[in-house]
Amino acid sequence: MKDLREALRALESWGELRRVKAQVDPHLEVAEVARRVMYARGPALLFENVKGFPGWRMATNMFRSVETIRKLLGVERLEEIGERLTKPLSSPPPMGLGEKVQTLYEVLKIGSYTPKKVGRGAFEENVIEANGFDRTPIPKTWPLDAGRYITYGLTVTRDPDKGISNMGLYRVQVIDGNRAAMHWQVHKRGHLAWWKVKERGAKKIKAAIVVGSDPGTMLTGAMPVPYPLDKLLFASVVRGSALEVVELDGLLVPANAEVVYVGEVDTEVLVDEGPFGDHTGYYTPPAKFPQFRLERVYYRSDPIYYFTVVGKPLLEDAWIGKAIERAFLPFMKMFMPEVVDVNMPPEGLFTGGIAIVSIKKRYPGHAKKVMMGLWGLGLFSLVKVIVIVDHDVNPHDIGQVFYAISTTVDPQRDVLVVPYAVTDELDHAAMPGGYGSKLGIDATRKMKVENYGQEWPQEVEPDPETVELVNRRWREYGI
Ligand SMILES: Cc1cc2nc3c(=O)[nH]c(=O)nc-3n(C[C@H](O)[C@H](O)[C@H](O)COP(=O)(O)O)c2cc1C
Repeated sequence: MKDLREALRALESWGELRRVKAQVDPHLEVAEVARRVMYARGPALLFENVKGFPGWRMATNMFRSVETIRKLLGVERLEEIGERLTKPLSSPPPMGLGEKVQTLYEVLKIGSYTPKKVGRGAFEENVIEANGFDRTPIPKTWPLDAGRYITYGLTVTRDPDKGISNMGLYRVQVIDGNRAAMHWQVHKRGHLAWWKVKERGAKKIKAAIVVGSDPGTMLTGAMPVPYPLDKLLFASVVRGSALEVVELDGLLVPANAEVVYVGEVDTEVLVDEGPFGDHTGYYTPPAKFPQFRLERVYYRSDPIYYFTVVGKPLLEDAWIGKAIERAFLPFMKMFMPEVVDVNMPPEGLFTGGIAIVSIKKRYPGHAKKVMMGLWGLGLFSLVKVIVIVDHDVNPHDIGQVFYAISTTVDPQRDVLVVPYAVTDELDHAAMPGGYGSKLGIDATRKMKVENYGQEWPQEVEPDPETVELVNRRWREYGI
């Protein structure tokens, strides 16, 4: 998809977008409508009459289901996204001419994902020189929020060592017309770039906050792409085609953006951020985050301002998380080939929540090896609870998972608590500052050596001859 506008047109053609002509207030009202529609599994919304902002429209709930995200990205299966990178890297070397041509094609395709620099972005049509945060329709989403929040802003920074681009979806709290608080958490790439320049004694880092782009680029902002993979390159992989970018104050930003806030993040000035009604369904209390100073705002003519609302699941972030789970499964399998499937139930919260992982077990302690590996793998390190089940248990069927836990777990042997570990900063049940503990449950069948020297019992199975007989004689009764 070319941009946000094309995505909204596609949603409309699928009957998945509702235009709202009634006037809506960005102060709480727009968020309440967005939430109610999302809880009712309703359509994406395009508000065409925004109170106080003539000429601006607001859009939300584009990522309304995994199926909608799949269609927006134009793939048969979301796993294809990860496979675009993992497949060429994890196949046997080509031998015959046909195989060589195919491999060459796949390798060249990776090359075609390089972002393409263009001279000018559509967003450069208009510019606001002062008080830009007051002149764009930034919503307040919950009554006790500390202020208005850019809730779907892709913050672009440049890594000072490698020059690669970061682009993370972090909320940004408006303080006044020209200042905001940048809520990049300590484990995220924006924070890493900021920390590096701070270490070198620099007082600021350039940053651009992008609102509204094509669905692939917007989703990439929320993806845990490991450093130092370039996030704009990754956006092109997700889109399936090179992302066009423009250079702006030394940063590369998507040319198809609706709105771009350009400024600097201070390394020494920290401000209170929050409270904010968060993904958890609770208000995250105030904490110190760096100040963002706005220099200019660019926007397309007839601009569409994209926002999202978080709160108790299931809201838009739940489906974004699910889509990422699917798209990243191939990477997980590349680093841990024993992994068969994963389910991060959206009610268990996407980051910092619960993951159920099925594995093809081969040796004693295998489940714990996978847990420890995952807790060391990028942002999977934030997951609080990992449950490992055998390959024949469907992790998406919670009934099967409970059955596995009930029949395989001896808590003193199979439950692992890791104290004083990394955890999601949003976890109010843990210690402050993203420092908490982990729970791992090994719900795999145990090998003799794991099972106190006892053979694992045989599972019940019917007698094959009786099965045949019942198939024949009881069919007429629907059995
Ligand atoms: C709706 C939404 C809001 C988010 N808000 C934040 C945020 O305020 N701060 C943060 O650090 N991560 C936030 N995240 C998670 C990050 O987007 C995610 O961890 C992503 O991997 C960050 O990019 P990075 O890994 O390149 O830093 C949010 C995710 C979603 C879906």
